[in-house]
Amino acid sequence: MSTTLLSGKRGIITGALDENSIAWKTALKAHAQGAKIVLTNAPIAMRMGKINDLAAQTNSKVIPADATSTTDLEKLFTEAQEFLGGKIDFILHSIAQSPNIRKNIPYAELNYDFYGKTLDISALSLHKMLSTAYKMDAINEWGSVIALSYIAAQRTFSFYTDMADAKALLESIVRSFGYHYGKHRRVRVNSISQSPTQTTAGSGIKGFDTFFDFAELNSPLGNASAEQCAEYCISLFSDLSRMVTMQNLFHDGGYSMTGASADLMNAFEEDK
Ligand SMILES: NC(=O)c1ccc[n+]([C@@H]2O[C@H](COP(=O)([O-])OP(=O)(O)OC[C@H]3O[C@@H](n4cnc5c(N)ncnc54)[C@H](O)[C@@H]3O)[C@@H](O)[C@H]2O)c1
Repeated sequence: MSTTLLSGKRGIITGALDENSIAWKTALKAHAQGAKIVLTNAPIAMRMGKINDLAAQTNSKVIPADATSTTDLEKLFTEAQEFLGGKIDFILHSIAQSPNIRKNIPYAELNYDFYGKTLDISALSLHKMLSTAYKMDAINEWGSVIALSYIAAQRTFSFYTDMADAKALLESIVRSFGYHYGKHRRVRVNSISQSPTQTTAGSGIKGFDTFFDFAELNSPLGNASAEQCAEYCISLFSDLSRMVTMQNLFHDGGYSMTGASADLMNAFEEDK
């Protein structure tokens, strides 16, 4: 396989908490494909996570930023361009958090302060990031921005509570900002709708393990792994996908197009 897909490109990768994070694997692959990158995460995650190990492995710089703070984001884009030596070619938005999910609050009883936080962290942060970059003219022409989403944006998954609403908003921002940034600077914006994946964010959802097995059975190719998601990100950061923008791209082994698989039916049959 070529190792030059991102040669000469400069990127910002958010959300690498530990080795399981989709962002962690994407950072390793971006580095392996020749990109120069900056890593960023919320200041609190810096203390809990292992991001400095990843920075050492990828010769990158860590710039802390709370993605809900436009002040932090301005600092991020300023320092990232200084370190990388020019405008940004790609960004991975890999950020989500729901205090309601964390506290096990059911959808019909959501705490609205928490709900606001979920939307701010998991969706508005993409708008803030794009808007900051737009004002600072920080992204190169034909740059590529990817946000990570989940199919609960389109269809109800009972356990996903307010994060479903956040993902619906995130995907709408992808379309709307994709239009405006596309016209303005030919910057493309897409979301990847990923299979359930065993990460800190994923496993924090009640019933995740059971649902992971369900999705595995109902996807003709099985669940897509974090590693495979990272590979898909690289292809979308590269120049090989230049005319793809404003899309929500399912990366789920066929789950989104499957009604009921034979494997799933058989599992029910065995239980009778
Ligand atoms: N794991 C899954 O099953 C799954 C499936 C589909 C989509 N996704 C999405 O993938 C993305 C990455 O999640 P992951 O599964 O790799 O889990 P993860 O827990 O490794 O990553 C989530 C990241 O968000 C960061 N974050 C939270 N609040 C922040 C803030 N205010 N500012 C900056 N960063 C903040 C966390 O520190 C963490 O690094 C998320 O958007 C998630 O919803 C995950």
